[in-house]
Amino acid sequence: AGVLLPNLTSCHESMGRSDLPVYCCPPMNQSDVAFIDFQFPDPSLPLRVRRPTHLLDENYIAKYKKAITIMKSLPDTDPRSYTRQANLHCLFCTGAYNQQDSNSPLDIHRSWLFFPWHRMLIYFHERILGGLIIGDDTFALPFWPWDIPEGMVIPEMYMKAPFFHEARDISHFPPSVVDLDYSCTASSSDDYGCFESGLGPEDQVYTNLVMMYNQMVAGAKKMELFMGCPYKAGEGGSCNGPGTLELAPHNTVHKWVGSNLNPGSREDMGVFYSAARDPIFYPHHANIDRLWEVWTKLHGNKVITDPDWLDSSFFFYDEKLQLNKIKIRDVLSITRLRYAYEKVDFPWLNNRP
Ligand code: C2O
Repeated sequence: AGVLLPNLTSCHESMGRSDLPVYCCPPMNQSDVAFIDFQFPDPSLPLRVRRPTHLLDENYIAKYKKAITIMKSLPDTDPRSYTRQANLHCLFCTGAYNQQDSNSPLDIHRSWLFFPWHRMLIYFHERILGGLIIGDDTFALPFWPWDIPEGMVIPEMYMKAPFFHEARDISHFPPSVVDLDYSCTASSSDDYGCFESGLGPEDQVYTNLVMMYNQMVAGAKKMELFMGCPYKAGEGGSCNGPGTLELAPHNTVHKWVGSNLNPGSREDMGVFYSAARDPIFYPHHANIDRLWEVWTKLHGNKVITDPDWLDSSFFFYDEKLQLNKIKIRDVLSITRLRYAYEKVDFPWLNNRP
């Protein structure tokens, strides 16, 4: 069987890091647990087109600014609030909920739940943002295309309020080129070092493209290598085998953005319990989501057919404050979800090492 639904009444303190218990549970009462089954948006609605961060115009940025400012002003009792949205990520990445009818915790990283769960998270986040600005059902999140040379620095708009975030590594501010293979070594003690590549901008861009080729093509020929291991309910329980893209650049960009003043964990982006507090989390994940689409297309629209995966379900609040129960099979067509990605080139495709 697939993983079981989270038991929403089981929320408990969890481990944000090996040395840090966190409590990201929502204030809630029994009636909050009532849910509806997810309904596809009306197929006649226009597509929400997600655009790359370096091509956004002033009007769009103003709209996004307004939505996020409203979101940040909502009280924590409102599941649409910025804090609650960020905590949602904390809840499912630290095992704060048990699965229904079992005591096993639920964690959506390092397995085949990674891509679909994050797709759901940002999809509802996007709908909520759109709903906050007078019901704009065309509002789309931007994506941060760190896989192409134009996108290999922290995007401009994320350096300014309300998208700027304190807890970041200042030495990685623009014009510093992202290191998609940024590595940190965990050791048993606290001396946990992250290594700067020391490469000049041109060499760093080239190295990044080669890395992308590996993660998307050479090292990801088989489904499981890209999607991660099958995480099922019961016996064996969670697996621990992230796909190529999840390991890097997903994890590495998280670490690279996070603050060096928090050695080891590099909060906020560098560790899961706090990552979604940084507004840059969302365009980072939109790019991950886009690259899942790209990989699927490059591999003849291959998709996992195991019903244990297809029927794994999760809960998310929408813009109308309704709690939706949504299955992985519901999110496999982004067109049916009524969004799309503006096309950008894949220069890494020609960067076989
Ligand atoms: Cu749930 Cu980018 O991590």
